[in-house]
Amino acid sequence: NEYRVAVVGATGAVGEQMIKYLEQRNFPVKELRPLASKRSTGKTVMFQGREVKVQETTPDAFEGIDIALFSAGGSVSKAIAKEAVARGALVIDNSNAFRMDPEVPLVVPEVNPEAIAQNKGIIANPNCSTIQMVVALKPLYDQFGIERIIVSTYQAVSGAGMNASKELDAQTQAFISGDQVPTQILPVGSLDNHYQLAFNVIPQVDVGQENGFTLEEMKMVRETKKIFNDDQIGVTATCVRVPVQRGHSESVYVELKQDYQLEEVKDLLAKQPGVIVQDDIEQQIYPMPLETADRPEVFIGRIRRDLTHDRGLNLWVVSDNLLKGAATNAIQIAEAYIASKR
Ligand code: A2P
Repeated sequence: NEYRVAVVGATGAVGEQMIKYLEQRNFPVKELRPLASKRSTGKTVMFQGREVKVQETTPDAFEGIDIALFSAGGSVSKAIAKEAVARGALVIDNSNAFRMDPEVPLVVPEVNPEAIAQNKGIIANPNCSTIQMVVALKPLYDQFGIERIIVSTYQAVSGAGMNASKELDAQTQAFISGDQVPTQILPVGSLDNHYQLAFNVIPQVDVGQENGFTLEEMKMVRETKKIFNDDQIGVTATCVRVPVQRGHSESVYVELKQDYQLEEVKDLLAKQPGVIVQDDIEQQIYPMPLETADRPEVFIGRIRRDLTHDRGLNLWVVSDNLLKGAATNAIQIAEAYIASKR
């Protein structure tokens, strides 16, 4: 069987990786239909050595589509995902639009593949920071249970989109040259104040909330509970943008429900599908975003027992936010969906 696949946001940072990854994984594509805004009509994308024309995202653009991968932001998903479903497509949505909708499964295939079967036409892809954390914690959750998580992120600029990536490059060059540093987008394009990220860190990813957290932080709290199907897990997050192009890093402190042996934890993590353990501080082995960019796995290092709590454990978790954090996970959902239909 082969499938007609639409990529909405095909000209964006994640859409570009989706198209590349469909090709690399030999996903059974009968037709690729790249969609974007009206601004991009006339552009082309390369797929399997051919140029494919980008079309405008209209309801009728989904005619005949089997699988629609959305990554053009929440408002586009809200406006048009249901049109794609009405035309018979399975929508896999990378935006925040439907993630907490009780009718919509929120899926990381290594963690909760069983949720896929509950879809009514839309499956949501979780937030990039959540995905890599739950992949790392899955075997520990199963073996020991998890009481609470305290996570701090070091997030790459590409998560804010292609224009934000370009802005960091431009800021870096301007700063070094002693020129005026452009600040139009970061940290959040839609807000009033914009700051320099180059040679800086910004403790804001996405908009602020009434409770003092940011939306990105609350995504990590809510999505983790939904994916593990466990409202009792305590999660507290601090999300920080750092001047890195690709790859989110996370300092994850977790309190397990049962006592653990460190060696057992390392074995469980090393055996977990989709995880690569790089952990030896004496040999200076640990994951870093420059090394993990363009790779689909979740990398874990700095695995150590906490000094203040018997059942506390510290981990350093790094993954390419555009791949496992977005494109790879979306396409793995599509693969798991197809496999479940066979
Ligand atoms: P376009 O390039 O035509 O603006 P990023 O996350 O890297 O900023 O990319 C956002 C993606 O979403 C781009 O492919 C962009 O297309 C697309 N997009 C933005 N607004 C719309 C819209 N109203 N309809 C369809 N696609 C959109």
